[in-house]
Amino acid sequence: MPKLSHHAVRDPALETALTRAIWGQTPSVKVGKFPDWGLTPIYAFKRVGSTMEIAHELAAQDAPQGTLVFAARQEQGRGRLGRTWVSPDGGAYCSIILRPPRPPVEIPQLSLLTGLATAEAIRELAGVSPSIRWPNDVLLNGLKVAGILVEARDGAVVVGIGINVTTDPADLPPDSTCLQRCQSPSQKVSDTFVVAGEVYRRMVAWYDVWSQFGFAPVREALRPLMGLFGEPIQLSTASEQLRGVASDLDEQGRLVVRLDSGLLRPFEMGEVALLRNSEFEGRT
Ligand code: BTN
Repeated sequence: MPKLSHHAVRDPALETALTRAIWGQTPSVKVGKFPDWGLTPIYAFKRVGSTMEIAHELAAQDAPQGTLVFAARQEQGRGRLGRTWVSPDGGAYCSIILRPPRPPVEIPQLSLLTGLATAEAIRELAGVSPSIRWPNDVLLNGLKVAGILVEARDGAVVVGIGINVTTDPADLPPDSTCLQRCQSPSQKVSDTFVVAGEVYRRMVAWYDVWSQFGFAPVREALRPLMGLFGEPIQLSTASEQLRGVASDLDEQGRLVVRLDSGLLRPFEMGEVALLRNSEFEGRT
């Protein structure tokens, strides 16, 4: 069993609740099959710095693929592009260790795949229809309900997922919401373990599909959930800011944007903001 240098102490009660949420029910995963990984290790904590750090440490000690690190709260949750991920009680904070059999150039597809798994889990549990803002923000009513972070180190990949389940929106950034606020009246979910468990199961099932068949089946399932197509957007990359109309997701997972010139250009990375039509029409 790998040893953790972190001060965080594993919580057996949380680990039991998560194990039950993942394995103790009839599988509702509808994509592919749940891979035959056996019972993958689960590390659960009441509070940590970041589940990413713990997962990287475990990965460096050869923790098996599928190892799940869960926390009920994070003190130093991290987001994309060096941002902080605000992680108070009421959220599900997970990191999953993977050892992808596919070429490094395809690794960014894992964040799209995880967005798909998360959106599907939310739809199934809460009876609402989330959309995905490329590359991987999961939105409800235009506000962010979940975020995804993919980090590769020394041959292992750690996928981090943060979902606001019952989190008080007052504790979250202004463009965020929580699941409890948005779900359908007839289908309510407020258990972070149930949410984490369903996301994990779908993530692993999609990962198995991707490992065997590549991005094509993921893309097919993802495209109807992409909330951007046909919309005027502003795209910020490390070197430029562009405006155009989001057009498609290509075979590699890049966002295809129709620029003013009519040119269709694929982007591998970037931040997307939806423009109101008036802003788009009034552009200089
Ligand atoms: C983003 O949208 O910026 C990505 C947010 C990723 C947050 C999750 S919460 C679990 C894992 N641990 C972290 O410190 N970050 C990721």
